[in-house]
Amino acid sequence: MSEPRSPILVVYYSRSGRTRRIAEMLASELGADIEPICERRLGVGRKGARSYVGSLVDAWLQRRADLLPARHDVSSYDVVVVGSAVWARHASAPAVTWLKEHGGHIQRLALLCCLRRRGATQALTQLARAAGKPAIASCVVAARDLRLGVDGLKRQAFARSIRHRLQARRPTERVV
Ligand SMILES: Cc1cc2nc3c(=O)[nH]c(=O)nc-3n(C[C@H](O)[C@H](O)[C@H](O)COP(=O)(O)O)c2cc1C
Repeated sequence: MSEPRSPILVVYYSRSGRTRRIAEMLASELGADIEPICERRLGVGRKGARSYVGSLVDAWLQRRADLLPARHDVSSYDVVVVGSAVWARHASAPAVTWLKEHGGHIQRLALLCCLRRRGATQALTQLARAAGKPAIASCVVAARDLRLGVDGLKRQAFARSIRHRLQARRPTERVV
């Protein structure tokens, strides 16, 4: 397992790259460690039209994904940010599975949600429930935000909120 280099870990699942790009920018702004959620799938994985339907059904039926082991020890971070896309107005199956497996070891949870248009509230509720704890901060980035160029502002406000929560809890320690 990798040693923590920051008090914050950003973990994300991304099928087509949008959540990954936002998670990478957020991690860079926070000076956070970062880790993708990886499935043990072979072949085409979740790429292509057939897997789109498969992903929809997985989310709809809340099926468990088969994940590779985590590379970081989540319990050693003050805050773990988990990023997921919305699938069928649910959170993505791999992100939900990851939180069911690791949520109990997370000290403080923050949530990032990427979507086209609808389903963010349900997805955020589902992610917090899977982790078994409420999020200290959350951020929703929709396709419209990217079109209007306000995604960066939302991300930066999210990063400020996470830092603020860290500072409020650890007044004598220096945070990133
Ligand atoms: C199977 C599937 C179902 C989706 N369902 C929704 C939905 O219900 N609401 C929505 O706004 N976007 C939906 N989307 C769009 C994704 O949430 C959006 O494109 C997201 O930014 C993709 O993130 P990614 O590039 O990290 O995979 C869906 C995408 C997929 C693949």
